[in-house]
Amino acid sequence: MFGFLKRRSGPSGFSPSSTAEEVTAGIDGSGLVAIVTGGSGGIGAETCRVLALRGVHVVMGVRNTSAGELVKEEIVKKVPAARIEVLELDVSSMSSVRRFVDNFSALNLPLNILINNAGIAFAPFTLSEDGIELQFATNYLGHFLLTDLLLEKIKVTAKESGIEGRVVIVASDSYKHTYREGIRFDKINDESSYKSIPAYGQSKLANIFHANELSSRLKEEDVRVVVNSLHPGAVATNITRHLGFIKDILSPLAKLVLRSVEQGAATICYLALHPQVAGVTGKFFMDFNAAELKPPATDKELGKRLWDFSVDLIR
Ligand SMILES: NC(=O)c1ccc[n+]([C@@H]2O[C@H](COP(=O)([O-])OP(=O)(O)OC[C@H]3O[C@@H](n4cnc5c(N)ncnc54)[C@H](OP(=O)(O)O)[C@@H]3O)[C@@H](O)[C@H]2O)c1
Repeated sequence: MFGFLKRRSGPSGFSPSSTAEEVTAGIDGSGLVAIVTGGSGGIGAETCRVLALRGVHVVMGVRNTSAGELVKEEIVKKVPAARIEVLELDVSSMSSVRRFVDNFSALNLPLNILINNAGIAFAPFTLSEDGIELQFATNYLGHFLLTDLLLEKIKVTAKESGIEGRVVIVASDSYKHTYREGIRFDKINDESSYKSIPAYGQSKLANIFHANELSSRLKEEDVRVVVNSLHPGAVATNITRHLGFIKDILSPLAKLVLRSVEQGAATICYLALHPQVAGVTGKFFMDFNAAELKPPATDKELGKRLWDFSVDLIR
């Protein structure tokens, strides 16, 4: 019935039904170190497994370390040679992000790949411990801070190893469903006009702006670090946890029509490891191919304004 998924393929040669294992087959990631946020479940856990399978030393940033340790145990059962660390990270909290980076630095590892994956969707209005709307804080701002704190390490690693550094930002096609203004700079924390779907879209639009603006800045510096964002497809995971009874009604159908986590992690692993991505930066990927962005994601001024706004928030 869903054979059409297998047929469509673009210049990458892979199709929407390709799995993370398939798109990284034959790639040797040994000697590389990657951080993956939100590795305790969903497509993040599968990303950790497949990177470890390819020999990458994986550092999982998870808010629930017991869940993270269980994922690690499962991976090590299947991949006995896997090198995996589990470090606590609540990406919605700036102090937790700073602690995570300190703990990572204490490991004395290089850093080749950063995968900003952790996320929540459609959450009711909540403020983070820093007083920032929770979807914006989790999906975007915490990752903006994390990337900022790790960037020097990624640049130094790329320079010393001669291997291109990669930052992979998990966004979503839902960026199109943001608020009318794109980013509501003056109403980020406004509860009275909050709507959970556009707020998710806003945070995912912010992910795309982050990738594109960071990519432009790195090009000016002439460092060998590429930054790309992506939509993983509609994947059967726990991301719909805030949809309540709607989730329960849709759940049996969802398993039939949505992608598996093995497929959902595929574009992430492709961007992290595949040689086809060498030198490719500032693109938004869907199904292994750079996709054309639609407004408001094409508004470069909005992206620059978001960057300055974010710098003010994290300082
Ligand atoms: N599934 C889809 O259809 C879809 C489509 C487009 C984009 N995406 C994006 O894909 C990414 C992964 O989502 P998923 O589908 O794999 O969802 P998921 O199964 O709900 O996994 C999300 C992961 O993020 C973690 N997380 C949430 N809040 C966190 C926090 N404050 N600090 C640290 N980790 C946190 C979760 O940890 P806990 O287990 O502790 O909650 C979990 O490990 C998200 O960025 C999402 O927006 C997904």
